[in-house]
Amino acid sequence: MFWVQFFSRHASVQKILAISSVTRCTSKSVKHGQSAWLRSIFFNSVKYYPTKLVLGIETSCDDTAAAVVDDTGKILGEALHSQNEVHLKTGGIIPPVAQQLHRENIERIVKETLCVSGISLDELSAVATTVKPGLALSLGVGLEYSLKLVDKYKKPFIPIHHMEAHALTIRLINQVEFPFLVLLISGGHCILVVAQGVSDFLLLGQSVDIAPGDMLDKVARRLSLTKHPECCRMSGGKAIEHLAQQGNRLHYELGAPMRHHPNCNFSFSGLRSKATRIIMQKEKEEGLQEGHLLSCVTDIAAAVQHAVALHIAQRTHRAILFCIKSGILSQTNATLVVSGGVASNQYIRRALQIVTDATNFNLLCPPPRLCTDNGVMIAWNGIERMRAGSGVLHSTDGIRYEPKASLGIDISERVGEVAIKVPSLEVSLNELSAINL
Ligand code: KG4
Ligand code: ZN
Repeated sequence: MFWVQFFSRHASVQKILAISSVTRCTSKSVKHGQSAWLRSIFFNSVKYYPTKLVLGIETSCDDTAAAVVDDTGKILGEALHSQNEVHLKTGGIIPPVAQQLHRENIERIVKETLCVSGISLDELSAVATTVKPGLALSLGVGLEYSLKLVDKYKKPFIPIHHMEAHALTIRLINQVEFPFLVLLISGGHCILVVAQGVSDFLLLGQSVDIAPGDMLDKVARRLSLTKHPECCRMSGGKAIEHLAQQGNRLHYELGAPMRHHPNCNFSFSGLRSKATRIIMQKEKEEGLQEGHLLSCVTDIAAAVQHAVALHIAQRTHRAILFCIKSGILSQTNATLVVSGGVASNQYIRRALQIVTDATNFNLLCPPPRLCTDNGVMIAWNGIERMRAGSGVLHSTDGIRYEPKASLGIDISERVGEVAIKVPSLEVSLNELSAINL
């Protein structure tokens, strides 16, 4: 009994348990002597009994991911197959290709997750799966596979909203109480919401056109960054961040969009057009055809990244001021959570830090691997819903995936009507330098 308590309270031992399990799954990667020793200690003498264990499955876009998380927030195991390399080659996600890759990988990813976790399907409390929003063909693979699992093993099913999962991930790592402000910035989404409860959100603003990750991916593609030796395997956003560190953003002026719209909505397609015009002009000057690397890619990357950061920071600043003014959040000890794939960008985080410092908010971001799509956030959302007693289904009749789904109650018009003037932080924001990050 002592050992059970001792081990269950020590996260580092949980990690060893996971490593030890990995040795059984992929035995080549760990030295045999050590793995045999770990196995003999942990698997023969320790059995770990959490109250709830949820398997999370994510296939909404281009990552096939799964994880097992318990009700204390421990990640027992996870696995992920990224389709990024394939989509980089085809110049974007082709839905039937994504669907086929999910089909080819989902069983392996789930098995690997369970194997690393040392958990059998019978031991699970529930299966949680992303059912909205996302690519129809991709969502369908995860849902179909999950429904077969829950039917065969007689488990409850928890349908998950992908954006809700991104928003709640922080509570797996930090003790953040509701309500808090959330900025979700990814390849498919850009929203500002107040999280008031596990399934209770207020939508303050969203992108009126494309998401920032989508814009960065498109600019990166137009710059042919997959041909750059330093970032040929990176997502567009990551490649822009990487190159921006070596560039001078002051060589190009893109400006922040929507300055005369005093709301919390976003727009990124204008920035994309401006970036395209600059690229075309430079190609002309350097006598290059589209598809060849420009000599000034780092400067363009830095200017684009700065404009995106500035825009996101200004809209988020207004959202913070609105929340304080309307009493939705208190002025003391309030929190801004930033998540989604684009939130792993350190430059954008620094811009947001300037805003939260000026407004006395705490800024919290999950670590980058939990900002991009992953199975852990889905499993954790399942745990949150089990705890709240909300959305845990014992019959899956009529369950469908939904490619389009908004999050929470939309109060964005009210935000626009209040028309809060945002004090200029331009000086501080302009001091942001990628080189000094
Ligand atoms: O959340 P995510 O994994 O998937 C969804 O879109 O839901 O986000 C992927 C997006 C891509 O557009 C990718 O280019 C962007 O996140 N991204 C980044 C960075 N890493 C990934 N954008 C800016 N800076 C990064 N470091
Ligand atoms: Zn996502």
